[in-house]
Amino acid sequence: MSAYFGLDFGSSSFKVAQVSLAGSKSFTVTALGLAQNPAGSLELTDQKVVEKILPSLKALLKESGIKDKRAVVSVPESRVFSRIVAMPNMSDTELASAVNWEAEQFVPVPVNEVEIDYSVIHRPPKGAGTQSMLVYLVAAPKKYLQALVDFLVAAGIEPVAVESEMVAVSRAFSFGGMTGSSLIVHIGALSTVMAIVEGDALRFSYVMDSGGVALTRAVSQSLALPIAQAEEYKRTYGLDPAQLEGKVKAALLVIGEGMVAEIRKAIEYHLTENKSQVSRIVLSGGGAYLPELTSYLGEAFAGLEVMIGDPFMQGQPGRGVVIPPEKAVYSVAVGLSQRVF
Ligand SMILES: Nc1ncnc2c1ncn2[C@@H]1O[C@H](COP(=O)(O)OP(=O)(O)OP(=O)(O)O)[C@@H](O)[C@H]1O
Ligand SMILES: [Mg+2]
Repeated sequence: MSAYFGLDFGSSSFKVAQVSLAGSKSFTVTALGLAQNPAGSLELTDQKVVEKILPSLKALLKESGIKDKRAVVSVPESRVFSRIVAMPNMSDTELASAVNWEAEQFVPVPVNEVEIDYSVIHRPPKGAGTQSMLVYLVAAPKKYLQALVDFLVAAGIEPVAVESEMVAVSRAFSFGGMTGSSLIVHIGALSTVMAIVEGDALRFSYVMDSGGVALTRAVSQSLALPIAQAEEYKRTYGLDPAQLEGKVKAALLVIGEGMVAEIRKAIEYHLTENKSQVSRIVLSGGGAYLPELTSYLGEAFAGLEVMIGDPFMQGQPGRGVVIPPEKAVYSVAVGLSQRVF
């Protein structure tokens, strides 16, 4: 068993997972758990939020039977700036000093206020001439990271690494190897993360700052319903055209059509830039369970396989662990727990 666990720090719920890796092809889930985020927020600089969520996180750790203190933790995608950038092929040392300049190009705050992390996702082979290398850059505000670390320490957790949801979700769905290119669409509460993964390489990344909360709000506004009821309607009727004369579907599509447009752009990008065809859409996160979402996307992207991803595909439950039916809710937590140091 790894001496650390994965903690997906979500605005709607916290998820934890711990696995025991059997090489790179299979694993056993030794602990798993979920707790609602009672504040619905991750504003850790707000003491009221901290006081609300700290007890839930502590209770979750206790219930899920996790004994280790060390954790790989996700930074909410809504808090970071990330991008894949093409850079001239250079050595690791050169890269280390060049990332700051690259980050300056897309990070909307001064770079000395962010912590920059990066990973090389493609390096052209020696002698490949002027081909560029591809680097995934992620910048997180130092202030937020400090608040996150303080919070985790108060919960009795020792963060050994912090990763973006993008990296974690890509790892979870490429574990064990996958053929072809998969477009992962991870729909959380506040954001939707899109990633194209080819083999185990991240080839495209994009974050939309809308997710389940925006979908619920659209239903609430369009049908003049309170938020709690709109959430019910969303989860029960989803994109089913036969329900309520298609009114819920129509409301959801106000946001949903924007997502479809972004998916289309990602697929086109992959075709023109990477000369590769996306072969499947893998849905993940709580939003993946929107009724009729797979059939809706299946029609919008005829010829592509659309499915809800299973981060436990190569895994099996350990003693006393039950894997709940809504598996794709755990993909970030599982991906974090699969990190190898
Ligand atoms: N059956 C369902 N149908 C539609 N939406 C659902 C369903 N179940 C959950 N959701 C939505 O999924 C969202 C929560 O997903 P998830 O647990 O992945 O979010 P999170 O990780 O806490 O959020 P974030 O990463 O954005 O901070 C909520 O907005 C919720 O409404
Ligand atoms: Mg999330």
